[in-house]
Order: sequence, then structure tokens, then C-alpha cells
Amino acid sequence: MSSFRSRQRSQAGRHFIRPAAEHEASKPEAPAERRAPVQREAAARPPRELDLFAPCPRGLEGVLARELAALGAERVETADGGVGFVGDMTLMMRANLELRTASRVLLRLAHGRYRDERDIYALALNVDWPRWFDVSRTIKVKTDGHGSGLRSLDFVSLKVKDAVCDRFRRAQDARPSVDTRYPDVRIHVYLDAEWATVYLDTSGEPLFKRGWRDETGEAPLRENLAAGVLLLAGYDGSQPLLDPMMGSGTLLIEAADIALNRAPGRLREFGFTELRSYDAVAWEGVRARARQAEKPVAPLPIHGSDRAVQMLVKTRHNLGRVGLAGAVTLAQRDVLDARPFAESGLIVCNPPYGVRLDEQDALAELYPQLGSWLKQHFAGWTANFFTGDLRMPKLMRLTPARKIPLYNGALDCRLFVLPMVAGSNR
Ligand SMILES: C[S@@+](CC[C@H](N)C(=O)[O-])C[C@H]1O[C@@H](n2cnc3c(N)ncnc32)[C@H](O)[C@@H]1O
Repeated sequence: MSSFRSRQRSQAGRHFIRPAAEHEASKPEAPAERRAPVQREAAARPPRELDLFAPCPRGLEGVLARELAALGAERVETADGGVGFVGDMTLMMRANLELRTASRVLLRLAHGRYRDERDIYALALNVDWPRWFDVSRTIKVKTDGHGSGLRSLDFVSLKVKDAVCDRFRRAQDARPSVDTRYPDVRIHVYLDAEWATVYLDTSGEPLFKRGWRDETGEAPLRENLAAGVLLLAGYDGSQPLLDPMMGSGTLLIEAADIALNRAPGRLREFGFTELRSYDAVAWEGVRARARQAEKPVAPLPIHGSDRAVQMLVKTRHNLGRVGLAGAVTLAQRDVLDARPFAESGLIVCNPPYGVRLDEQDALAELYPQLGSWLKQHFAGWTANFFTGDLRMPKLMRLTPARKIPLYNGALDCRLFVLPMVAGSNR
């Protein structure tokens, strides 16, 4: 896997069909107002080949690359925290609708070396923004950096916003407004120590927002991370699946979507519909094909439980929101009272991980009991625990077959894979 920086370097040679000035590094330019106005392009025909990048939770790059290859993406290349690929507008729409593990789908518009904010301004000014969206659209610019020596990433965002507005002013004597809360168009800037990349966000809201969850302020597992955990656990939609600490049911819902071949983005909207290149007929075709590939909702070998009654209520509510009422079997019970409902299958769960000392003590008491419970009842099953508590297998007195590093935001976590073969685990 290449690092983000080396990937950016290697991508410097990637091109899609568009005027060279838009994607090559440029020298700082003279102030916009002293230069000749740019002619507005009559038609907003998109380039046939788009240079795309899908960020994802760290640790899921390989899974995401396989998802992209299955969609028919070309030049799929993993980096730290995401996957680069090439495809046309249809692929970009399908990626937004169908990828389970991506956080966003970004379109790379400019990439170049920088020394200071002026270079980044010049890079962004070189992009033909009026070609991509109408001046009536509101915008938001966000900058992230890794090793950039610049004082303020917010100041970089401000300079890029200025560049976008200046480019519009030169073309049509008007500029887009900024809306930091609900922008129509999001622009992302990524900096490493030497290189700046300017992306247009084709997703809008991040893709873990599937469009069904009530925004309650609590922090369940992000949907794309839950899907990634399931895919890393080898879940293919056919095996019996149990989450005995289901919380709000995120893993159960993602599993059911995999089992029913339902596109994770089917209930939400996307940022690309705000772009000039948006083709409503093509988009409806993409959505219709995804709907045709769905299996009908029926009872599934997916079971979930939690000891907290309010979690049962919440999961039942969430299942109803996604049209899965009755498809998943639910119960209120302690994890230690859960029993297998098939000869073999997968336990996939995200146990609580304590931050406070007393929580950690309680977990240290639970883990040996979990180990005994697995050995006693779940021979033939494989348990997959996603946790930030790295003590877990040792305290369960079990040896994981795999310890897969995975990040939940900045939190260093593991997916511990424990195949329960009768009599083989101590
Ligand atoms: C980290 S949360 C799971 C979050 C879930 N993956 C989601 O996305 O909403 C852990 C869950 O384990 C449950 N839990 C804790 N101890 C339990 C036990 N002994 N038996 C059953 N459930 C338990 C908690 O009620 C909580 O809902």
C-alpha cells in the first residue's frame, strides 16, 4: 500500500480529458482583476474519464478497492485512507450509490506543489469552476492537512474560496455565496508537506449517512465502518449472523443490505445532482438498475440482541425505517444468554469499550466470561469482535486467528477474528 503522499506523487501523471491548465501545477498568477476575463463555456460536457478518490476509514482500503473493482473502476490504487480510481460519470454515480465502505467520492480537479497559500490560490484559480457548477450554487471549502507547515488550514480554505469566487467573477461578473452549514457544492483541499490537491465532492453529505438514521446525537458505529467490519469478517449475505450487543442495530442493517443486495445509498441524495454535468435520466437509469438487482425482503438468518431495552426499541425503529421490520430476529437479553440458531455462522459485534477506569474494570470481568460462553456454545461459529480495547482476546483467554487493524476515526481498533473449533481453543 502506498502512502497518501507517494500516491499523490504517482497520481501527478494521471490525466483526464480536459484543458491542461486545469490539472497541472502552476506558478502563482497575477491578481485576478488585472487579467483578461475568461470566456464562459457554452456547454458543460463532462470529461469522459474522471480522476476519482474515495476516502474510507483506515484499514478498509483493501475492501474498498475490491468493491471498486467489482463496479468496473479502472486504475484502482490503494493509498493510506482511501482508494484512487478512474471512471466515467456513470461509474461516479454508481460509486456514490453502491459503495458500502467509502466515506465520500471525490473528483480531483487540481494537483500541484505549493510553498505557501498563494500557490494554493493559484492552483484553485486555474480550475474552470463555472464549467462544473452554476454561480447560483452555494459553496463550502474545507482543508485537511498532513504535515503541512502552513499556520492555518482555515486560511487555506479562505484563499481557495477566494480563488473560486475570483474565477467566477472573471467569467461572469458574479460569484457564488458561501453556506457553511448546507452548501450545494463542497470543495475539499488536501495538503501534505509539498503537494496540494483540490477536489470537488460528488457525495455531499458523507456516505456513512445512508439517509435513514434519526440524528439523535448519540454515536453509533458509522455505517461504512460497520459494512467494512462485516466484509472483513467474510460476511457475504448467506451465512447466519448474530450480533449479541447490537446497540442501535447498525451491523444488522448493513448485513441485511448485503444479504438483499440493496444499494446503501438508495434512501439519500448526493452532491453530484448540483453539478452542471448532472444527467437526471442517466441517474434514474443507475438507480433503476440497482433496484432491479435487489432481492425481495424476507425473513433473514440475521439475529440481534442487547441487554438494554431501549436499544431493542431503537433497533426495531431503525429496522422499520429501512423497510426491514420482521426480516431480522430481535431479542432483549444479556450476551451470555445468547445461543446459536444454526450449526455454524458468524458472530459480528462491537462490544462497549470503556474509557473510564471503572468501565475498563467491568469489561475485564466480562471478557473471561465471553471466552467461556464462546467455547461452551459456539463451536462451528466464528466470532468477530470489533473493539478499541486491545486487551480483549488475552482476557478472553482465546487466540485470535487474525487481528485486523482498523481505525474508528482516530481510535486505533482491532477486528479480532476467533474461529471456534470444538475443543481446539484453550
Ligand atoms: C458499542 S455499543 C454497540 C453499538 C452498535 N454497534 C451500534 O452501531 O449502535 C455496545 C452495546 O453493547 C450492549 N451491552 C453491553 N453489555 C452487554 C451485555 N452484557 N449483554 C448484552 N449487551 C450488552 C450495550 O447496551 C450497547 O448497546
